[in-house]
Amino acid sequence: MSLPVFVIRADVSDQNPNLQIEAAQKAFATDFDRFSSFRETVPPGSISLSQAEQLSRELAELRTRHVGKKSALAACKKLIGRVQPEQRAAFGQLVQQAEGGIVQALDEVVGSLKSFVESARIARESIDVTMPGRRARAGHLHPITLMRQRIEDIFVSLGYAVEDDREIETDFYNFDALNIPEGHPARDEQDTFYTTEGFALRSQTSTVQIHAMQRRGAPVRMIAPGRVFRRDTPDPTHNPMFFQVEGLCVDRGITMAHLKGTLQEFVHRLFGPGTKTRFRPSYFPFTEPSAEVDYSCFNCGGSGCRICKWGGWIELGGSGMVHPNVLRAAGVNAEEFTGFAFGLGIDRTCARIYELDDIRLLFENDVRFLEQFR
Ligand code: DAH
Repeated sequence: MSLPVFVIRADVSDQNPNLQIEAAQKAFATDFDRFSSFRETVPPGSISLSQAEQLSRELAELRTRHVGKKSALAACKKLIGRVQPEQRAAFGQLVQQAEGGIVQALDEVVGSLKSFVESARIARESIDVTMPGRRARAGHLHPITLMRQRIEDIFVSLGYAVEDDREIETDFYNFDALNIPEGHPARDEQDTFYTTEGFALRSQTSTVQIHAMQRRGAPVRMIAPGRVFRRDTPDPTHNPMFFQVEGLCVDRGITMAHLKGTLQEFVHRLFGPGTKTRFRPSYFPFTEPSAEVDYSCFNCGGSGCRICKWGGWIELGGSGMVHPNVLRAAGVNAEEFTGFAFGLGIDRTCARIYELDDIRLLFENDVRFLEQFR
C-alpha cells in the first residue's frame, strides 16, 4: 500500500503562499499606518469629535477591505486546503496569526476611538457650574433721549400731552397751514429734503401743532418732541437732522403772560429756581407777536462764563402767540380761542449742558463718547 501523493494544483503552484500572506500584511500596514499612533489611546484634544467619528467610519472600511470575504487574507485562507498536507497546519497557523494581528490592531484603534468619542461627548454636554458667567453689558439711553425725557416730565406735570407724529410731511403741514405760503422767504430758511411724490422731511416740529388741533380740537395742551431735517452742511453747531420740542397751548383767554409763566416755570425746573428768562421781539410767520426766549446761564447765573460765551444768557428757542391763520387752518375758531406756542432745540440744550464743542458728536454713535452721559 502506498500513500497518496499530495500535489499542489497547477493553477495554485505558481502562487507562493508565503508571499501572499506577506503581501496581505504589507497592504494592511500601509493602510493602517495613519491609525497606528491611536492604538493605545487617542489623546484628548488631539482631534475633534467629528474627526474621531470620521476615523471610526474609515476604520470600518479598512476592516472590510483587509479581513472581509473578498480580502487578500480570505484568499490566503482558501489556499490552506491547497498546500501540501504536511505544510497545511503550519500554513494555517501562519494565516491565523496574520489575521489575528490585523484584527487586534483594528480592535485597539476602534477601542481608543470609542472611548475618545465617549469622553468628548460627555465633555461637550457637561456644564462647568463654577465658570464665571458672561456679564450682559447693560446699555443706556442716548443723551438726547435723556434730555427729551427730562423735558417731557416737566411738561407732563404741567398738564401737557406728549404727541408723537410723522417725520414725512406735505407742504400743507410744514408750511401752508403754518402761515408760510408758497414764495414766502421763510421757506428758504428751512430748505429740507423732498421726495418726488410731493412729500418732504419736516423742517420743524411746528407741523404737529396742526395735526394736534385737527385731532383734538380746542382747548389743547401738548408738546411734540421729535426729529427735524434741514438741508444744512454739518458743522460744529449744525446737523442736517436734529431734535426739537414743540409746545402748544390753546384755550379761551390765553395770553402772552401764560407763555411767559410757562417757560419761566420750565427753566426753573430744568436748570434751577434761580434761572431767569428774557423775551426778545422776533418774527415767525406762525406767531404774532413772536419772541426769542433766553434763560440766564445755569453755570454762572448770568455773570458770564465759557458756557454762555460770556453773555450771561443762553438761547432757548422761539415762541409767540399762535397766529389766527394757523388756528383757522387747523379748524379752530380763532374768535373763541387764543394760544401760545414755542419750539426748543433739544440737542442744542444737550450740547450746552454737557459742554460739547461739536453737536455732531451726538450723532456719531461712538459708545465711548455716549456712555459718559448716563
Ligand atoms: N419752528 C421754529 C423753528 O424751527 C421754532 C418755533 C418758533 C416754534 C416759534 C414755535 C414758535 O412754536 O412759536 O425755527
